[in-house]
Amino acid sequence: MNHFELREGELACEGVPLSRIAEAVGTPVYVYSSATLERHFTVLRDALVGAGLKDPLIAFAVKANSNLAVLRTLANLGAGADVVSEGEVRRALAAGVPPERIVFSGVGKTEAEIAFAVETGVAEINVESEPELHLVNRVAQQMGRRATVAIRVNPDVAAGGHAKIATGKADNKFGVSFSEAERLYANASNMAGVRPAGVACHIGSQITDLAPMEAAFTKMRGLVERLKAEGLSVERLDLGGGLGVPYFNQPTPPDPEAYAAMIGRVTKGLDVQLAFEPGRMIAANAGVLIARVNHVHERPEGRNFLVLDAAMNDLLRPAMYDAYHDIRPLKPRYGAVTYDVVGPVCETGDTFTRDRVLPPLEAGDLIAFMSAGAYGATMASEYNSRLLVPEVLVKGDQFAVVRPRPTYEDMLAREAAAPWL
Ligand code: LLP
Repeated sequence: MNHFELREGELACEGVPLSRIAEAVGTPVYVYSSATLERHFTVLRDALVGAGLKDPLIAFAVKANSNLAVLRTLANLGAGADVVSEGEVRRALAAGVPPERIVFSGVGKTEAEIAFAVETGVAEINVESEPELHLVNRVAQQMGRRATVAIRVNPDVAAGGHAKIATGKADNKFGVSFSEAERLYANASNMAGVRPAGVACHIGSQITDLAPMEAAFTKMRGLVERLKAEGLSVERLDLGGGLGVPYFNQPTPPDPEAYAAMIGRVTKGLDVQLAFEPGRMIAANAGVLIARVNHVHERPEGRNFLVLDAAMNDLLRPAMYDAYHDIRPLKPRYGAVTYDVVGPVCETGDTFTRDRVLPPLEAGDLIAFMSAGAYGATMASEYNSRLLVPEVLVKGDQFAVVRPRPTYEDMLAREAAAPWL
């Protein structure tokens, strides 16, 4: 459930008509609902606790939505952060996430990033390869510290979904194999600069079937049991993120209760803290991208192009993954017209959708791309020298600009002439 609903014929976010935000801030603009973010986090936590998990660590995947106000909204509820760069560690800290709730994933962490994470005292550095384990060990030792690590395993399970976001097959770059994991864990327990505290996995994103997750998590359970049988201490099992969300018209994902019940079943009696790295399921349906119709280009031969002021640089998912986003006019009229919905960027990939049936629209009308709160603003760029899209957070009948639109002066001032120019 989310808090974007028609109120008196007009699409609103909680108590604020979206057109009011569009008038005040301009378009394109991302708008997030605090109540929806809070609800999604709470529903997941309650489901996990209800399934018998004690004190699960729910580390929100910052890559899904890294806005500081969004992170703070979640941190206030006790969320941790799953991060993949020094920038994301800094964002999590700036938003008030305690270091002991930060999980640092990623296949290519640099020496500087590792040093920063060790200095910060994050809950675990998820080590994804043998060279990285040695690097963490060396960096921490040089600092006179012992880094808490988890070994990320690639469970070799196909998660379905788009190939560009599947991460759990043996030919994907993420994590180590089970046999490597056992060897590395045992080695790590003898290293002066690391303390292995657990194992981790993450098999993909927008997963709408519990079976591959259950298969992967069952294998992870086996690994924990083998490590413990060898006398090694395992405190935490990190099961990653990946639970899908309902994108309108797309396969329906399992609900959080079913997901939690499966996890409760698979991990029953295993005496470890469980950690999770959900991104999309918390943020996707808590945000929309609002755009204005620049004009409608009706080809005499028959195609209707709805040309928006938002483009692929603002919402990359359709161009990158052929992703489907529901499009809703803020003030729907009666009727149905078939449109190709496009942005102004100079390539054909800048097409949000083709042959979409929508209520009739005119130049100046406002529309919302639904389910855009995850991997929307975070993947935006300035391609075509378009200003980075701003972000707004709504709470009840209030809204705040939580990332303003830069000015053209800001954009140009970031660059410098070379000395010979
Ligand atoms: N943990 C790790 C290690 C990850 O790599 C990811 C996502 C997550 C957690 C969060 O996954 P989620 O719960 O959000 O599914 N840009 C793509 C999605 C890329 C996901 C990358 N990793 C998209 O727009 O669909």
